[in-house]
Amino acid sequence: MKTNIVLIGFMGSGKSAAGRVLARKLGRPLVDVDALIVQQTGRSISQIFAEEGEKYFRDLETEIIRQAAVGENQVIACGGGAVLEKVNVERLKQSSVIVWLKASPESIIKRVTKGKDVRPLLKGKNSIQDIRNLMESRESLYEKAADIDIDTSEMSVEKVVEAIIRELKEYEGFNI
Ligand code: S3P
Repeated sequence: MKTNIVLIGFMGSGKSAAGRVLARKLGRPLVDVDALIVQQTGRSISQIFAEEGEKYFRDLETEIIRQAAVGENQVIACGGGAVLEKVNVERLKQSSVIVWLKASPESIIKRVTKGKDVRPLLKGKNSIQDIRNLMESRESLYEKAADIDIDTSEMSVEKVVEAIIRELKEYEGFNI
């Protein structure tokens, strides 16, 4: 029985923001994987990448996802690279409906260049073409993992959350 809602998608597709609102609206706990990594290590994601490298970060991510996947009735917001490890998707699939938040490279670039914390994987690589390339290399992984996909490019967070709820209500075997 699947009771968790998992949000996946490229950096800047709105997973954390939609996850927060969705969890509040449904009265479910939010597991924000990146936020937990920061909380547990006391370091920012950029610091972890710079000081320990990507593999170390991915191992932390896999461990947090392993723990989250055995919980119930949660909203789980993943980092954009969670689908890179097959085992993450396999574990999440057991207990969760997976929602892919899609967004165009044009809308992604607006969102990822807004804050001052540059994503490590976009450091010096934040042209529209760079984003398009990285996105294309991941597209099939998101597609394979997803049960539901929603294009968030032109949507406010509220609208995204409404769309997620609407799709989940129609999703057979999932109680919301
Ligand atoms: C990553 C996405 C980031 C964060 C890390 C790696 C990726 O999360 O986990 O910088 O590989 O796409 P967001 O998708 O929340 O930005």
